[in-house]
Amino acid sequence: MKRLNSQLQQDGAPLELILLIRTLLAGCKEISFRVSQGALAGVLGSTLSENVQGETQKKLDVISNQILKDILKESGYVKAISSEEEDDVVPCHPEGNYLVSFDPLDGSSNTEINSLIGTIFSIAHAPQWMAPNDPAAFLQPGSQMVAAGYVLYGPSTMLAMTTGKGTHIYTLDKTHGGFLLTHPNVQVPEQTAEFSINASNQRHWEAPMQQYVNDLLAGEEGPMGKNYNMRWVAAMVGDVHRLLCRGGIFMYPYDKRDPTKAGKLRLLYEANPMAFLIEQAGGSASTGAGRIMEVMPEEIHQRVPVILGSKDEVEACLSYYD
Ligand code: AHG
Ligand code: MN
Ligand code: MN
Ligand code: MN
Repeated sequence: MKRLNSQLQQDGAPLELILLIRTLLAGCKEISFRVSQGALAGVLGSTLSENVQGETQKKLDVISNQILKDILKESGYVKAISSEEEDDVVPCHPEGNYLVSFDPLDGSSNTEINSLIGTIFSIAHAPQWMAPNDPAAFLQPGSQMVAAGYVLYGPSTMLAMTTGKGTHIYTLDKTHGGFLLTHPNVQVPEQTAEFSINASNQRHWEAPMQQYVNDLLAGEEGPMGKNYNMRWVAAMVGDVHRLLCRGGIFMYPYDKRDPTKAGKLRLLYEANPMAFLIEQAGGSASTGAGRIMEVMPEEIHQRVPVILGSKDEVEACLSYYD
């Protein structure tokens, strides 16, 4: 079975990028081990501190963030990082050529129930002009990413990654510690009958999303003319993994309770990397107003509405916004 390294070479990734990716994944393997220890590692429950976004941090969020921060700072390849769990950009190495953004632990509330969680990351070039602690360099549209992916800590540890030459899924072979290519060039089916949304927020959505979901729920008798199934992992990483495996539509729309009309998910740490993976697998990713990867970020912790997955279904959803 093909190893990660040879797939990255085949896709034309430069050596330094390959080394950076391998470094990042070494950190993820450590997170995978910590996660598998569960309560035995004393990692369950909340700390008293809150992160910049006002959520109480789970201890495993903090540990995962620290692991990735330490390993990337040491590597020499990275000029700066931005993380869901850091208030500000973290300067790394003045000569580093890359910027890394990550959600160290996505779906962290699932740690309490031994359910799916993962790490989401993206990599971009560090502009020459930037000072290592300058957040402005991170304010590039997602279309500038050179690589993105996630590591899913499930029954097996899996990596989904793209360097812009398709989306490939690998499985961690714990016997030798390497990622093996188990699902080359995955394709999200264009059509689906499966949707994914936190329906408890329905009354807070905008009218188009309310109407679309009502029509999905109407099934065969409604305008869609078919019955849909619904799934919600409560970890975007788990929901997107399912989409890459068998298609579907995932939505986290904006909520009227939020005057900034942003939604919940973070552009740099969640929406952009997932949009890159989904697009490279033949799917679509939109905010409802345009392509996620074309949004020009105004600040590193910016949030955006997310609608992504099977092409035809995303198009059907967007038609309600026209
Ligand atoms: P995080 O654990 O990194 O803060 O992200 C959680 C996000 C995302 O993964 C998931 O899709 C969503 O929150 C779940 O939201 P609900 O609480 O509305 O289910
Ligand atoms: Mn969080
Ligand atoms: Mn997250
Ligand atoms: Mn997180």
